[in-house]
Amino acid sequence: MLTVWEAIKVRRSIRKFAPDDVPDEMIEQMLEAARLAPSGSNRQPWRFLVVRDKEDRKALCRICLDQKFIEEAPVVIVCFGDLERYSPEARLKRRQEFVESGVLETLSGRFADPQVRAAIDSAPTPSRQQLITPVISNTYIAIEHMVLMATALGLGTCWVGAGSGEINRYFGLGDNLVTVAVVPVGYPAGKYPSQRPRVSMEEILVKPQDSDKAE
Ligand SMILES: Cc1cc2nc3c(=O)[nH]c(=O)nc-3n(C[C@H](O)[C@H](O)[C@H](O)COP(=O)(O)O)c2cc1C
Repeated sequence: MLTVWEAIKVRRSIRKFAPDDVPDEMIEQMLEAARLAPSGSNRQPWRFLVVRDKEDRKALCRICLDQKFIEEAPVVIVCFGDLERYSPEARLKRRQEFVESGVLETLSGRFADPQVRAAIDSAPTPSRQQLITPVISNTYIAIEHMVLMATALGLGTCWVGAGSGEINRYFGLGDNLVTVAVVPVGYPAGKYPSQRPRVSMEEILVKPQDSDKAE
């Protein structure tokens, strides 16, 4: 298996797959990598639907703008974020987990202040609209864990952004599940792509400008 660094360097969006099936154990390993991802307040909102059925893959392909490689990949993982992970009941349960697993004792500064904690714990439940960003961003972390694990195992994947309720309707899923992405998985076919363009290190580094700090 590749190291994390090797997987980061070699990963590409793969849009051509061999017809060979992917063993269940590999999919399980990808899901396990996703399960172990970090999340804000340990909410772990990610949920996954593993699709192998040809008709279902065809439907996903159609819903996702007819991107053919979705249908061609032997496995497609539909990734959701579960809004119920942010309900008042879930918040209470999570708080209990923090106590029982000793996390509270490791927090620091004002974030650990009992009054600040109480204010966080008793804040009103955000609206669905307010929850979309945390649900999606936390689920993205788990998806990238999964994608890197797939690369480490010699598999190819491609992130496909998918935000429509059509996938929920097709699979009969409730609207607590927000569709975040669709990830086709299979063995890469054809010439392995070379690295896609990336901005330079210089461009990604932010330099402080004139500010109060500079005075
Ligand atoms: C959130 C997200 C959504 C994406 N959606 C699509 C998509 O719908 N179709 C597609 O072919 N590629 C999609 N991509 C892949 C990007 O085009 C790709 O990551 C980028 O061009 C860099 O290429 P690389 O992944 O090979 O390094 C998506 C990537 C991300 C992270």
